[in-house]
This record gives sequence, structure tokens and C-alpha cells, in this order.
Amino acid sequence: MKALEGVKVLDFTHVQSGPTCTQLLAWFGADVIKVERPGVGDATRAQLRDIEGVDSLYFTMLNHNKRSITLDTKNKTGKEVLEKLVKSCDVLVENFAPGALDRMGFGWERIQELNPRMIMASVKGFGPGRYENCKVYENVAQCAGGSASTTGWRDGPPLVTGAQIGDSGTGLHLALGIVTALYHREKSGRGQKVLAAMQDGVLNLCRVKLRDQQRLAHGPLKEYSQFGEGIEFGDAVPRAGNDSGGGQPGAILKCKGWETDPNAYTYFITQAAVWPAICDVIGKPEWKDDPDYAKPAARLPKLGQIFETIEEWTKTKTKFEVMDICNPLNIPVGPILSMKELAEDEGLRKTGTVVEVDHPERGKYLSVGCPVKLSDSPVEVTRSPLLGEHTDEILREVLGYSEEELKSIVGSGAVGDQAPAVAAE
Ligand code: COA
Repeated sequence: MKALEGVKVLDFTHVQSGPTCTQLLAWFGADVIKVERPGVGDATRAQLRDIEGVDSLYFTMLNHNKRSITLDTKNKTGKEVLEKLVKSCDVLVENFAPGALDRMGFGWERIQELNPRMIMASVKGFGPGRYENCKVYENVAQCAGGSASTTGWRDGPPLVTGAQIGDSGTGLHLALGIVTALYHREKSGRGQKVLAAMQDGVLNLCRVKLRDQQRLAHGPLKEYSQFGEGIEFGDAVPRAGNDSGGGQPGAILKCKGWETDPNAYTYFITQAAVWPAICDVIGKPEWKDDPDYAKPAARLPKLGQIFETIEEWTKTKTKFEVMDICNPLNIPVGPILSMKELAEDEGLRKTGTVVEVDHPERGKYLSVGCPVKLSDSPVEVTRSPLLGEHTDEILREVLGYSEEELKSIVGSGAVGDQAPAVAAE
């Protein structure tokens, strides 16, 4: 039995943040019913398409293991069907723009009336306050949540990161909120509202930077390379390049082949405990006892020069050789792996973290499988649904409509392939 078997999720999500959350719930065994607009569906089906007329990788990689029903929720019959869905599901997940569910007639009060056990989970850009009505996308959240101001080089502009911490990160936070609310419902018998705001999710992931903001009041941040360079700190946490966030000095260093390979680099941390081993490996054994280098405090003002010396050594080795030499000595290093290398990594294929999925229209493609492994609830990644692929099945099997009722629903235009000419009825 899968961990979340028996849990029915009414999935009103689109784009990335919400779908990340419901995909995780589906991987853990929930029956995720994705509700999409007839003829249109989740906008990402058509975004960044690499094959004409076929669901994009953007969509397929975020909507595995779900079922799709088309339903115009602004159509009178569509609203009736949605009411039945609300009554028969355990969780409603949505990431519409603020107010969209209320405008649809399915705000929290109405949901509770229909199903007091329902858990209603939302991603919004901002929590309650002056920005609560804003529509928000990934990079907006990275900027508003403290990530951009602390990413990049001190003398350059703020940078966004490639990791989708605003969208996928908030989806993860929401999934945790949902399973917690499900656990609570076991005891209380009642559902509740779960909110994950993207700004909050990003700030949570930037926790160490708010830590540093407060440390700044008590003096300079000595582990930042800025300190070693003798550059004064301002009143806000600066961008720290590739310095490590944990207090141990770290840097990204060139490795053999860096002249032609943009990813021939390694991360290298000069952890105090393994300093003698580092000195031996890089051919500087005399630094072990030299008072200018032996202790962390003495090294802090010289980190730039120290890393340059270490780099002279790493440039003679490939990033994998650096790993092979340093790992047995407990020197923390990490090769900079390209997406190509990750896609081809046999180990990741074996653990199911990278999976090959077959799709009836696009054929085989690679995806990231479930990143969390449960020993008693293994995940089998199945393809994303075609638009409305399970409409009939859900109306009959989940909602129990008769043949005649089905005909009338189809006749009303609430379901099907046609986008409604006029949205509201
Ligand atoms: N049938 C009928 N109407 C439907 C429908 C359905 N099945 N599904 C959606 N709609 C309608 C909504 O009711 C809404 O109508 P309204 O504006 O008249 O109330 C409309 O479609 C558009 O929905 P919306 O969520 O506003 O989409 P958008 O393209 O304008 O905005 C986002 C997209 C992502 C910016 C916005 O949804 C948002 O800010 N979401 C919260 C934060 C978030 O998740 N952002 C990251 C996304 S990865």
C-alpha cells in the first residue's frame, strides 16, 4: 500500500508551484484529479514546446501520476460537477491568482459548507498584507524573499538562481502543510486551510542570511571573503559570491580542462578540522605549523591567496580526481555537475531520481523522479495525462454519474475539447 493511498486530491493547480506539490502527493499514492479548462488546460501544456502539438516537457515533467478532467467551472453544470468533486475529495490544492476561487464561488466558507473535512491548500505570491493581491512568478519570489539580494557578486547586480526555489520550493512547503493537516484531521475530524506564500518559502530557504543580518549588528561577517579583502560591510547582508553559508570558508575552483569546459570546476571547503590534510594534498605541508596559516582566524584575511594556491593544485586534476583524492581524507569537495552529466548519471538512474518515461505523443523523455524515498511506499513514475484523458472515467467512477446524466453534462459544454466561447454562464 502506498503511503497516501485512499487520499483524493482535487488538483486545481497550474504552472509550476502547485503542480510540484500535487505531483509529490501523487507519487506518495494519492489519487490526484487535475481539473483543467476545456480546450485550454494548464497553460504550461503549450509553453516552451519542443515538439509541435505535443504537451511540453514543462507540463509533462510536473504532472506525472495524475488524472485529468476538463471542467468549465464558470458553467452552471460545471459548478454542480465541481460541488460533487469537492464533496468527494479530501484535499483541494490551488494556486490561482488571489481571489479567483472566490470569484468562481468556491471560497473557503463555501468549501467548508460542502465538505467540512476538506483541506484547502493554496500557493499565493505573498501572505496577508500590502502585496497579497499580487500575481507572482518564480523570479519575483526570489527577489522578494531575500534570495536575489544575497546571490551574486558583491560588485555586481542581484542574481536569480537556476533552482526554482520560489515555485518548486513553495510546492514542497505546501505538500508538507497538506500532510500535516491530513494527520491533524485524523484526530480532529475537520479540515483546515493551508497557505504557503512564495515570499515566505523563499525567505525560509534564505534563513542563514537573516541569521547573518543580525550578526552584522555585532561586527563584520568574518567568514565572508569581503572581510579578508578589507572591504567594509554596509547595513544589509551583502552578496557573497561562492562563499559557503555555513561559516567554513569555501570557493569554486578551476579544475583540469577549465579552459574549454565551462563546468570543469569543483567546490572546495577549507574546513578547520582537515586543514593539515589540505596542506599535505596541495603540497604546502609547511602551512600546518606556520602561525600565519595554522589557525582559522589567521587564515581569514588571506582566504583569497589560500584559495589561489589550492586552485593551482585543483587545475592539475579533473573535478572527479579532486573528489577521489579529497573524499577519503574527509576534505569536503563537490564537482560542478552539468545537466548533461546528471542526465547520464547511472547512479541517479538506479535510484529513480532520474527516470525515463514513455509518453504516447512525445515518446521517451527524461524526468526527475521523486526526490524523497519511502522504504514502504516505492514510487513508480507514470506519464502525465493528456488534456481531459480521464474526464469520462472520473465522472462515472468517482462521481457516480449515470449514462443519462453524463450526456447532459457533455451537452452543457461543461466538459470536452471546446474552450467555452463565453466563460461565465
Ligand atoms: N474553468 C473556468 N475558469 C477557470 C478554470 C476552469 N477550469 N481554471 C481557471 N479558471 C479561471 C480562473 O477562475 C481565473 O478567472 P478570473 O480571473 O475571472 O477569476 C482565470 O482562469 C485565470 O486564473 P489565474 O490564476 O488568475 O491565471 P493567470 O494566468 O492570470 O495568473 C499566476 C497566473 C501564476 C500569476 C497566478 O495564478 C498566481 O499569481 N498564482 C499564485 C502564485 C503562483 O502560484 N505563482 C507561481 C506559478 S508557478
